[in-house]
Amino acid sequence: MRTKIAVAKGDGIGPEIMAAVLRIFEAANVQLDYEYVEMGKSYFDAGHSTGMTAAAKETIERLGILFKGPMETPKGKGVKSINVTARKVWNTYANQRDFRTLNGVETVFSKAGIPINLTIVRENIEDTYGGIEHLLTNDVAVGRRIITRPGSAQVIRYAFEMARRKGYTKLACGHKANIMKLTDGMFLETFYEIAKEYPDIESSDIIVDDLCMKLVSRPQMFQAIVLTNLQGDIVSDLCAGLVGGLGFAPSANIGDNISIFEAVHGTAPDIAGKGIANPTALLLSGILMLRYLGATTAAATIENALLYTLEQGVHTGDFGDRSTAAANTDTFADAIIANISKQPAEGAIIVTPDLEYKANHDHPVKNKLTVTNTGVVEEMIGVDVFVRSDLQPAELAELAQRKLTDNFQLVMISNRGTQVWPTGSIFTELVNEYRVRFEKKEGREITQKEILHIAADLSEEFKVCSVEFLMKFNGKIGYTLAQGQ
Ligand code: NAI
Repeated sequence: MRTKIAVAKGDGIGPEIMAAVLRIFEAANVQLDYEYVEMGKSYFDAGHSTGMTAAAKETIERLGILFKGPMETPKGKGVKSINVTARKVWNTYANQRDFRTLNGVETVFSKAGIPINLTIVRENIEDTYGGIEHLLTNDVAVGRRIITRPGSAQVIRYAFEMARRKGYTKLACGHKANIMKLTDGMFLETFYEIAKEYPDIESSDIIVDDLCMKLVSRPQMFQAIVLTNLQGDIVSDLCAGLVGGLGFAPSANIGDNISIFEAVHGTAPDIAGKGIANPTALLLSGILMLRYLGATTAAATIENALLYTLEQGVHTGDFGDRSTAAANTDTFADAIIANISKQPAEGAIIVTPDLEYKANHDHPVKNKLTVTNTGVVEEMIGVDVFVRSDLQPAELAELAQRKLTDNFQLVMISNRGTQVWPTGSIFTELVNEYRVRFEKKEGREITQKEILHIAADLSEEFKVCSVEFLMKFNGKIGYTLAQGQ
């Protein structure tokens, strides 16, 4: 049965590499039909604030699969990246990136005879990519990092399922929960919760800096790693470097309803229009897409033709043996087409039903809302009020205390997260934005309105920049202590 997908050619080298990949698909008798959609830089320029037309949005939501070339985000126009927006709006929560040593693509590891075959699953819609940032004072910018339990559970479950499908025996969770105790802490806690459902997969965790060191020294230790968004972004580019660079890094953005397949690299403006770009990363992304759609035989045929071609030493200008002439995008694709039905000497792909993904094209009728545990007892303890001030900590404390009602006490003042009152060090350097923490006194009942009044009263003395409530969840504090508190 033929499946219809949405295709966006992209900007820069996008149209060149997309044409090459679709030609290879045709030669391999891939049973897909394409509906081309209007997305990318020229649509921003034409006044579409999201970088796509309404018709493109409708088509993608109807078909559920988008195969896309790289797209340029116009700089300095205040518009958000279309690539990030597409992933977030359509809830493609898992970003899967496969990295493997390819014969013919020389790297330090291939020279040392160390094969690499690992998958990074990166959370794709939360974390700092919410892009929620504010200038609190002219000198102080803050960003919100949003990690949620349902969001973490979704991507972690996907990673375990993927590991099982691929026949992996282990999955690691990369994190920085030693520093970001509540955000990364929640991700890590969720990882071990879900790991209980997958006793056949060995689960472990590793701090992200240690992970980076181990990936460059002993990458063969890992089979699959799941990470939060920003850390996953950085670690996956590191892995691209291990296997020969961005030209070989495919990516699948998987959601429950819509999935997007694209290369990791960008529009390569320096070589756009020259017809010399390497289409391998987009082709590998297309292969991931075929597997997702259940076309596992076509996926294996194309992957084997690609591996065979690389083994023969055919290369574009960005990799391979510089002493032999480089193919251009079209002749590289021609070589793969000529090799369809050939098998590489090493690492041939065998079609196994286990590799089959289950695509799901449900069309929801309302936005899905997930709340994990409705029985949790919440208690309001106090508030952190962020104020702009050039005063010294003790002076600030005195003014703040004057404003307090009897239900509350001033417990701490910090600057850049380091406690400066009631105790601190004279060597701690300050900026003009403080966090002033108030907590209710023992046994007092307080309302949220009363807490908001603290900020309102303080605003008579200081510029209040922001307010954050202090909560307990089932008796456990839901906020971090200041450094030195
Ligand atoms: P880039 O990945 O486009 O280019 C980096 C370097 O790699 C350049 O020297 C380029 O020539 C080379 N390169 C990339 N892909 C190649 C290929 N297939 N064959 C041969 N050489 C290749 O990254 P850059 O320059 O930072 O970004 C350019 C534009 O792409 C920006 O507007 C950026 O926003 C956009 N971009 C889009 C992405 C997407 O659509 N998912 C991802 C990353 C960047």
